[in-house]
Amino acid sequence: VVKNQMMASGDSQVVAIIPAAGVGRRMGGQTPKLLRKLAGQEILIRTLKALNIPEIEAFFISVSLPLKEEISRLVREAFTEREIFFSDGGKERQDSVFNCLSAASDWSGWRVPPERRIVLIHDAARPLVDEEVLRQVIREASVTGASGVGVPVKDTIKVVGGDLMVKETPDRTCLWAIQTPQAFSFPVIWEAHLRARADSFMGTDDCSLVERSGYPVRMVEGSYRNIKITTPEDTRIAAVFLEEGGTETMLRVGQGYDVHRVLTGR
Ligand code: CTP
Ligand code: MG
Repeated sequence: VVKNQMMASGDSQVVAIIPAAGVGRRMGGQTPKLLRKLAGQEILIRTLKALNIPEIEAFFISVSLPLKEEISRLVREAFTEREIFFSDGGKERQDSVFNCLSAASDWSGWRVPPERRIVLIHDAARPLVDEEVLRQVIREASVTGASGVGVPVKDTIKVVGGDLMVKETPDRTCLWAIQTPQAFSFPVIWEAHLRARADSFMGTDDCSLVERSGYPVRMVEGSYRNIKITTPEDTRIAAVFLEEGGTETMLRVGQGYDVHRVLTGR
């Protein structure tokens, strides 16, 4: 805890990387996944609103070429005050993140030395992340260098072979399902991505690249609500969560009146 406070009191800067260049194959349909509306607003815009906290100074968003114009117009209209950069999407999510990392490494806004530069990576397809989790993962990353959000698994997990035969049932008490956000000090995530590229290693999250580089990664326990919108059912689940969710996510309009005694002159 002491170390935590000492490190956190040092000046650090945070930018967000948002991979948004997927094709949304599992969602299907006419409208691209991230432009589908969720309770009246595009999923991508909802996610960016969730990330719109003052600690985060700039957004680096990767988008696929065919949607670049439409998405950049939509995003710039919604966030006129924000510093936003668009990078090309890559073949895999990891490539899209790398393109944003390259752009972030050249950012002219850094005022602190590289170890104090924090990069928060968050999937565009997770609009339900809450502020507290963002802050916690940023805090942990500034202490350990790498941090990710996850939740303990609720189901029993089995390792199953190609022949459908069970190989193993790992102890559930130490199994977590991993989400984003994940946050890193810049040199740690940069080295991890460069190494992965050099070895043609593809990971399914960014922490795994850091793990294989030999750096410690600290987990933050998040929320089961922070789902990744992948299939049409997820859109319906997310809509229910949003409906329940507090004041920030829903705009409500009503009418009312009040009555005052008439006074002289008024
Ligand atoms: N993503 C990306 N570049 C890719 C693939 C994915 O930036 N080449 C992004 C997606 O836009 C999404 C996040 O990574 O915000 C997580 O990916 P996923 O949920 O799998 O979305 P898609 O890849 O779009 O969906 P699918 O796998 O069903 O095609
Ligand atoms: Mg995908």
